[in-house]
Amino acid sequence: MELKDLLISANKRVDEFHEFQKLGLICNNGDYIPAGIHYPQITQYPQIGYEEMYKGYTFPEDGMIDVYVHFPFCSKRCLFCHYPSMYGNNESEKDRYIDALEKEIDIYLRKFNLDKIKLRVALIGGGTPTDLTPKQLERFLKIFSQKCDMTKTRQFNYDVSPHTLIGNDGIERLKILKDYGVNRLTIGIQSMNENVSRLMNRPHTKKEALEAVKNSMNTGFETDIEFIYGFPGQTVESWYEELKEIVQIEADEYQFYRLMVDAFGDRQGLIKQYQENHPEERINPDNTIRMKQMIFDYLESFGLKENIRRVFTRKKSCISLYAFNQCCRNLDQVGFGLTGFSSLRDRFVLNTKDFEMYYSMIEKGKLPYDRGYVRDEIAQQRWAIILPLKNYYIKKRRYKEVTGTAIENTRFYPIIQNLKTYGFIEENDDVVKLTDKGIFFSDDIVILFYETKFIPKGRELFNNGPLNPYAITSLT
Ligand SMILES: C[S@@+](CC[C@H](N)C(=O)[O-])C[C@H]1O[C@@H](n2cnc3c(N)ncnc32)[C@H](O)[C@@H]1O
Ligand code: SF4
Repeated sequence: MELKDLLISANKRVDEFHEFQKLGLICNNGDYIPAGIHYPQITQYPQIGYEEMYKGYTFPEDGMIDVYVHFPFCSKRCLFCHYPSMYGNNESEKDRYIDALEKEIDIYLRKFNLDKIKLRVALIGGGTPTDLTPKQLERFLKIFSQKCDMTKTRQFNYDVSPHTLIGNDGIERLKILKDYGVNRLTIGIQSMNENVSRLMNRPHTKKEALEAVKNSMNTGFETDIEFIYGFPGQTVESWYEELKEIVQIEADEYQFYRLMVDAFGDRQGLIKQYQENHPEERINPDNTIRMKQMIFDYLESFGLKENIRRVFTRKKSCISLYAFNQCCRNLDQVGFGLTGFSSLRDRFVLNTKDFEMYYSMIEKGKLPYDRGYVRDEIAQQRWAIILPLKNYYIKKRRYKEVTGTAIENTRFYPIIQNLKTYGFIEENDDVVKLTDKGIFFSDDIVILFYETKFIPKGRELFNNGPLNPYAITSLT
């Protein structure tokens, strides 16, 4: 497909984008508001008393849990990253951290009277969880596999950066991961344009990124690669060149993230300051919308379809079960490590972002959380709409299990009906889901189900149209 052909449907999306700005759905400065990954977003969770956090929590009946483990270490700081991390070689700090993780998991096991965690799905992320020596990586995996019963584990994921998968150490790490049952790797390439990649301050070259993907595929991992669009320095033309190269990379999954400038994690990324200092480099939101539509059309011409939001694959079976269980099935997931979060059926628990506090709470035999949210009945009903609607679809039967109420009997059902009249949502006896148009604007749409205080952008940024989120959420 030529660029001029791609621009035909891309330009139509831009027209829709302006139409929805007029209706008040999309904020006027065109800023991107990521929504529906966590509700509310990480930066909005309040402090909560230690004893309050788990009060009334019941363990899942089948005893199965998904686990996330966070490693806050990286070789250097990427411009767009919103996570606190330690940079450079801190071998002894990493050893100390692995010791603390072991103790944290033990505290969790004691708290819930468990011998081992019955692991359904695991995700080890960061930071860069492979930014360890092969010896340290093996030590962690040995500890982790001793604490978990993996007989029924369906997927074991690692989120990695390419530079840790190349050369002799890289090959050794891949072998260790394989030996301990890891079966899926997500590799952050971020950009195929070397100038953009340099501006991002990525710790690898394009050649190294491609080598890492090859090594991963050759070692037999399901391989997911990730990219960012809407980044300073990109243009519609350069993005087209990137897309042409991306589809040539042999991988199982391709993920595309629109650049997030405001912090959605525990530390504001440098990108915000960069854009303030270089306003001329900020991409016009119309062009970011064009880039997004180009992804859909160009990848489809290579047999790649969006499977769950943002993830394009040839086979429907290639997805992160961790993301699917969290966002689409609302299952219990527990997080360990600095900033690790637990997304549980009726609450959200967030670990501290402060290294010293993390170590000191664990030394006192406490789980290292300091923020969170126990959902009341209405917050639960919102959450069980927002996550699945954004990422996949709402299964009515599951909705009733998770909330105790049929979706038709909630105060949110009239909003669903209203959105149907705009062609954003469709419904049958079993599911409520976004249409193609709804999928494209999914972040903006799910905000209509937020509690007003959690809408991430100010009221003054939206037109007073019929889809203004402040007007709609004030009704619920
Ligand atoms: C949790 S991050 C982990 C990144 C991983 N450590 C790496 O170096 O590639 C997961 C993905 O989120 C995306 N991401 C991170 N920060 C972003 C931002 N500010 N805007 C858009 N996407 C972002 C990137 O594509 C990244 O691969
Ligand atoms: S994007 Fe990845 S490698 Fe870069 S600083 Fe963030 S966590 Fe580290």
